Amino acid sequence: MSYDYPDINGFFGEYGGQFIPETLVAPCQELARQYRTAALDPGFHQELMWHLHDFAGRPTPLYPAERLSDRFGFQIFLKREDLVHTGAHKLNNALGQALLAMRIGKTRVIAETGAGQHGVATATVCARFGLECVVYMGAKDMERQAPNVARMKMLGSEVRAVTSGTQTLKDATSEAIRDWVTNVHDTFYLIGSVVGPHPYPLMVREFQKVIGEETREQCADRGIVPQILLACVGGGSNAIGFFFPFIEFSGVQLIGVEAGGEGDGSPHHAAALTRGTPGVLHGSRSYVLQNIDGQILEAHSISAGLDYPGIGPEHSFLFDTGRVSYVRVSDDQALASARELAKLEGIIPALESAHALAHLAKLKQEGFTKTAIVCLSGRGDKDMGTYGAHN
Ligand SMILES: Cc1ncc(COP(=O)(O)O)c(C=O)c1O
Repeated sequence: MSYDYPDINGFFGEYGGQFIPETLVAPCQELARQYRTAALDPGFHQELMWHLHDFAGRPTPLYPAERLSDRFGFQIFLKREDLVHTGAHKLNNALGQALLAMRIGKTRVIAETGAGQHGVATATVCARFGLECVVYMGAKDMERQAPNVARMKMLGSEVRAVTSGTQTLKDATSEAIRDWVTNVHDTFYLIGSVVGPHPYPLMVREFQKVIGEETREQCADRGIVPQILLACVGGGSNAIGFFFPFIEFSGVQLIGVEAGGEGDGSPHHAAALTRGTPGVLHGSRSYVLQNIDGQILEAHSISAGLDYPGIGPEHSFLFDTGRVSYVRVSDDQALASARELAKLEGIIPALESAHALAHLAKLKQEGFTKTAIVCLSGRGDKDMGTYGAHN
């Protein structure tokens, strides 16, 4: 299967589009136009590549996890996005969108954040480029990701606590959209994942596909032939950025790992694809967690970055076509995998990334014997409170 782009209205098959208030229709169309122009401009690309290299520290290593490989009996590599400046893949996208915001002439940036990694990435690029920055964050997430709140403030951003609803990422996103509707004349909404109205899912994928492009090159240089790529899926940006350059290789199995929360017998999970149905959330049509009246349900994951009742539209398309397989792992499995990686490899992963690692045990059970690459989307410093509380 091969495809590259959504249609002119931003649909990947039946998913995507622009389900937005009237005031945002013209700004989103203008953004799509501006993005298309920037994407074709070699100067824009060059400036982004310079920042990815000299500011963010790319390329990130493709690391052979030898002791983890011995433990599972097959070869495992880690794509080390935890080593990107600020500690997660989120900076790749924040840099791209901030450069675009400046090109368009916006002076104020807003963002939503769950785990705080996208908030930190946005605060970082705003400090770097001298832009005003406001980050919306659920009050519950501010508590469980406190170190990232302190980082955003130190970087000069305002962090606005969202106390409505479940006080997590969904509510922070709704609040950011409200701000955008009011201030769209001078404000750029820097969305942190492949979600939201067109052109965001496309744009964020394009800014994140550097992960998969580097991986492809590193595999080719070193003669590594992967059979499986694994990534955790919240909104889906690290996964699509990692998978997209491999989609044309039908011999490479792509597996997205959703947050199974308290497990399959429980309603407390964040598995929008594998336990959800198609609906509309935050400006696009995709799989969501909803009741029969279309009311969005509360999501649950121990990991703030996966605690979201929706998923990017491109993943919904890839799920329906079967090109990418999606599975889930529980909170407990993710916690155990994080501990295992720390002890075996000296790397403390983000709780989000630990979900991808947790699926390695299933591969072993299934008798897998070849080569797998896991996207280690972020480092675990922000999660030390949660790790400590679940010892
Ligand atoms: C380290 C890390 N990995 C993964 C995610 C999930 O986001 P996405 O699915 O867009 O990659 C987050 C979100 O905050 C994160 O901080």
